[in-house]
Amino acid sequence: MDSCSSKKPITLCLGIFLFLFLVGMAYAQLSSNFYSSSCPNLLPTIRAVIDYIVSHDNRMMASLLRLHFHDCFVNGCDASILLDDTETFIGEKTAPPNNHSLRGYDLIDAIKSQVESWCPGIVSCADILAIAARDAVVTVKKKSLII
Ligand SMILES: *[C@@H]1O[C@H](CO)[C@@H](O)[C@H](O)[C@H]1NC(C)=O
Repeated sequence: MDSCSSKKPITLCLGIFLFLFLVGMAYAQLSSNFYSSSCPNLLPTIRAVIDYIVSHDNRMMASLLRLHFHDCFVNGCDASILLDDTETFIGEKTAPPNNHSLRGYDLIDAIKSQVESWCPGIVSCADILAIAARDAVVTVKKKSLII
């Protein structure tokens, strides 16, 4: 029998719905240690790489943050910004707002290649973009590279 049939009080149905909704939300939480067991060196290594790069190229922080923003701008943060055009597909990378205006692709590609050698098939490109942007901002703030 349907638990939300018309014979049951509406408050019970609402209560059950709310409980299931909250349980569902609890499992849908983002986690900052998502890769701590599946790819334990991920965060410290990306942090070190970004720290080095941003310290030697002051524009790279803004570039990585902008790359992440433009990735998220169209249909969410799905790394679609990294897709190269093909004969039948024109992607976001060469779309007029991005063509020759975004940078940092080589850095993200290099990080992704390294990450694939340690943890094959584990870490998404979208997460690498987000982690790189976050670490770049943290590095600049920590080192007071900009006022
Ligand atoms: C992006 O720039 C290249 C070279 O400047 C140009 O050939 C291409 O048509 C541009 N792509 C788009 C989608 O405008």
